[in-house]
Amino acid sequence: MSHQIENTVLILIYLFGSITFISGLKMLSKPDSARRGNILAAVGMGAAIMGTIFFYTNATGEHLKNHIWIFGAILIGTVIGTLTARRVKMTAMPQMVSLFNGMGGACAAMISIVEYKHYHFYSCNSGELFAILSGLLIGGISFSGSMIAFGKLNGNIADKRFKGQSLINLILLAIPVVMVVFMSYQQEYNGLMLLSLIAICLLYGITFVMPIGGADMPVVISLLNSFTGVAAACGGFIYDNQVMLTGGILVGSAGTILTVLMCNAMNRSLLNVIIGSFGGGSHSGTEAGTVSGSIKEISLSDTAVLLSYSKKVFIVPGYGLAVAQAQHTCHELEKILEEKGVDVKYAIHPVAGRMPGHMNVLLAEADVPYDKLLEMEDANNEFSATDVVMVIGANDVVNPAARKNPASPIYGMPILDVDLAQNVIVLKRGMAAGYAGIENELFYDTKTKMLFGDAKASLQKLVSEVKNV
Ligand code: TAP
Repeated sequence: MSHQIENTVLILIYLFGSITFISGLKMLSKPDSARRGNILAAVGMGAAIMGTIFFYTNATGEHLKNHIWIFGAILIGTVIGTLTARRVKMTAMPQMVSLFNGMGGACAAMISIVEYKHYHFYSCNSGELFAILSGLLIGGISFSGSMIAFGKLNGNIADKRFKGQSLINLILLAIPVVMVVFMSYQQEYNGLMLLSLIAICLLYGITFVMPIGGADMPVVISLLNSFTGVAAACGGFIYDNQVMLTGGILVGSAGTILTVLMCNAMNRSLLNVIIGSFGGGSHSGTEAGTVSGSIKEISLSDTAVLLSYSKKVFIVPGYGLAVAQAQHTCHELEKILEEKGVDVKYAIHPVAGRMPGHMNVLLAEADVPYDKLLEMEDANNEFSATDVVMVIGANDVVNPAARKNPASPIYGMPILDVDLAQNVIVLKRGMAAGYAGIENELFYDTKTKMLFGDAKASLQKLVSEVKNV
């Protein structure tokens, strides 16, 4: 094939890759098309990678060599990726996403390290150097930040805060930004500065994620995701590669939009996230304030009667529902109650669970109709006219301290105001705290009754009790 034809074929493959990536991303927005969307985008990206390996030619018309190294690396990555993705539990998915996101950041940073040296020898203009070094800056932060986020989500790393941390973080962010501008302007290879830049980026990634605690992790995860997208887009600029650009820009912008939405949902400011100065407490156990009162338990039969004679019931799913894998039993209970004439709906908090959309995915898996799911604001408007709210494995997202206690680390975060309903029944195993590590006064409210036990086991027993009412 002539050099020109190969080039045209490659451009067409990149076009195919970009279109499938955009369509795949669009399909991810609906649970029933999400799986196909994922496969479609992966096929497009696979084609782009193979196209590059076999059709790319450099200025002198040479193809890529090193096929053994390239396919060896692809094989190792594919085996590790497939095995981990197959084995990971649904509840450990956020950690895995964080780990994979960090790998993306590391790749972008490594591309930049290699190309920084190349650009010195070949052409060297400030704009190109800026794209290269920005890829290193953003990719490096994304890598080390994601590794810390992985450790935190996995429960291996606790939050670390100290006085003046925000200022130090601000300085640690400003230094590499200035270095990138200076090195781009300098236009010559500076090994010492390169090493210092790598070290400071990695350090900032650590210090920026380290203090962020408790309920605020979702915002950081989506921010790190968008960083990786932007770092990959820098790679697209470096190589003038349309697929990398499209993919990077889409991931970067989608991640940024998600971060802003998350910030709004948590009532936090983006600047505070970037300098790592929000969220106190942690899932490692810090508490703010004590809760007085006593808890009241409810029996399975009383719960069944209360639910069966209600007109309107809300179910609030949380992380515990995912741990118990109780979504199918939950849907079964909902159907039985509906058959008895009870209006049953689900109230979804944007950060319930451990990843964006966690509850939506979980309930979609059990075929719960989408129109039964109400977003936080809509559900909050309906709670006062609700007979029973059943909180299943949720804790932080229904904690009234977010509304009432300025000393609480989750103060200001909008929550599901379930305490407005006539009755609240909480299904959980014991009195353990949620991810933010704080007490929940809802459990001590006069309206609240606790139904202790694993969510799946309790729901299974409830299903048979309700059938007998
Ligand atoms: P959490 O506040 O984490 O509470 C979950 C509760 O489920 C725990 O109190 C636990 O109590 C209970 N539980 C665990 N296993 C159970 C089982 N098998 N059966 C019944 N109950 C069980 O959950 P949430 O209300 O969904 O809030 C999510 C939290 O995670 C927020 O703080 C959020 O910011 C944070 N977070 C969210 C994300 C995203 S993106 N969604 C990412 C990272 C962090 P027991 O042990 O006593 O049963």
